[in-house]
Amino acid sequence: MCGIIGGVNGNDMAHALVDGLRRLEYRGYDSAGLAVLGDGLTVRKANGPVDALALLVREHPARGSIGIAHTRWATHGKPSRRNAHPHISGTVAVVHNGIVENHAALRARLKDLGHSFASETDSEVIPHLISRALDAGAGFAEACRQTAAQLEGRFAFVAMWADEPGTLVAIQAGGALVVGRGLHGSWIASDDIALTGKVTQTVALEDGEMAVLGRGTVDLFDASGVEVSRPWQQIVPDEENDTDGTDWPTHTRREMSQQPAAIARTLVALANRDLPESVVNARRILIAACGSSYYAGLLARSWFERFAGIRVDVEIASELPSRPLLDVSRTVGVLISQSGETADTMAAAEAMKAAGMQTVAVVNVQRSRLARSADVVWPTAAGREVGVAATKTFTTQCIALMALAHRIASLRGSVGLDLEDSLRGEFERLPALIPAVLEQEADIARIARETTSHHSCIFLGRGNDFAVAAEGALKFKELTYLHAEAYAAGELKHGPIAVVEDGLPVVACIGKDHLAEKTLSNLAEVKARGAVTILVAEEGTDHQDAADFVITVPSAAPMLAPLLRVVALQLLAYHAAVALDRNVDRPRNLAKSVTVE
Ligand code: M6R
Repeated sequence: MCGIIGGVNGNDMAHALVDGLRRLEYRGYDSAGLAVLGDGLTVRKANGPVDALALLVREHPARGSIGIAHTRWATHGKPSRRNAHPHISGTVAVVHNGIVENHAALRARLKDLGHSFASETDSEVIPHLISRALDAGAGFAEACRQTAAQLEGRFAFVAMWADEPGTLVAIQAGGALVVGRGLHGSWIASDDIALTGKVTQTVALEDGEMAVLGRGTVDLFDASGVEVSRPWQQIVPDEENDTDGTDWPTHTRREMSQQPAAIARTLVALANRDLPESVVNARRILIAACGSSYYAGLLARSWFERFAGIRVDVEIASELPSRPLLDVSRTVGVLISQSGETADTMAAAEAMKAAGMQTVAVVNVQRSRLARSADVVWPTAAGREVGVAATKTFTTQCIALMALAHRIASLRGSVGLDLEDSLRGEFERLPALIPAVLEQEADIARIARETTSHHSCIFLGRGNDFAVAAEGALKFKELTYLHAEAYAAGELKHGPIAVVEDGLPVVACIGKDHLAEKTLSNLAEVKARGAVTILVAEEGTDHQDAADFVITVPSAAPMLAPLLRVVALQLLAYHAAVALDRNVDRPRNLAKSVTVE
């Protein structure tokens, strides 16, 4: 997490940096800061979002032609002006993303050597170490390289030194950094979105690499200091998001409405993708992901099992490296990630690779670390998602996974031609069904208000609807800040039912299958104990008087219908949050890209 940007361009650097930071705010919005070099080093820091920094820079201009900036998601040290980046030692300024895991030992050693610290962050050791190396006679780039060699953990940093005012040095070791060049100078940032309008070409740094940016130059070096050269890529403008931003109350609500188009695009993107034999003939699939992406994996499990007849295990990515990976022969790892830079998912991918597994990345950001590291990329084409809560990226992940299961099944000959035709038809129908759920917004908003007066909310489902309930509960807690928990409906009576009390909202999800009746019985059990019950039911299910409130969603093929219930739960969470006056696009404490373990 945290967004970093730096540039060498000779122009009004402070404003250009703030513009870049605004585009990186999805990575964190606790505090922001910048440092520029003009007539000396000028630093500006503000607690809160980038807007606060922008205001500060308007009131107290910072002039310079080279600079670095940062938007923070706090790990070590609470959000505050003091803990905001850049951190300074003498005339060295540094912005950092990631965690310096051995920061305590380094800080203690530096203190013994007479250094004093201004913040509580792990990051602040970096400029101090660079200063020491410079004092010992190293050149600027070499001082940064020596510093990086002392840091443990996954990180990326950009450093600036007042004594060498035309140069920025950046090092990546498990973080994400993209360098760019163009008419407006040389730039570096956590994501190329921050470089829009500044550069025309970019290159993503690989782990261990260092970039040295000068006026109009970018030089890349590997970890041992040997210069490397890599092909530059043209920046492709993100047209959907550049032209579709004005008529919606929030990015999140706009992105919910973009789901039909995003799903259709994803199906087109996957239509002619090849799959290697090793994936088609897999004996076992091991899925690993975090958050919503994990729930997409849970939902997908039954499709691989049912259609392709492959055994599937689904793991929370951060848990996967904690146990030995057993039974991996002909096991294909499927990593699911919107951003493609989630540190926990990357760690799971590395563990799979180390165990000799082939990996498939289901990923929305095509140039991400995860995409670059995978044997096969199976993309989603959701377009950029700005809202921190996953909406269109979740549904497109589900669609991509379904398409993957379907493709494997068809290449293995495990689905007949009739079924294959009808499944293809159902895929094509889905985008047209989502608007029918979105059209119920007013009713769902009214029901959502019923959930806001209690401190907690329970979500129930069986089979695929357990994954739907889990995603619904995650969306609800992220957006409303109320406690929400999903239970496999049958598990309720084994303990969780103890929390049911008068007025507790309980949301149950059912499809047109043999599980519905059992879930309805579980709903009756909580209703009898005073819960306010909300049922999200597929059209055609028999649920007379089963709940206080019912949201009916269109009927669809069994593998697709759960997604329509997900869309209803997105609206439910969204409107509960609106009723509570929450910041829907940027919920507190969260960041869109979670680049720390
Ligand atoms: O970028 P990823 O898909 O790897 O992110 C995984 C989770 O951090 C993400 O899904 C998170 O749970 C979202 N905030 C959910 O809305």
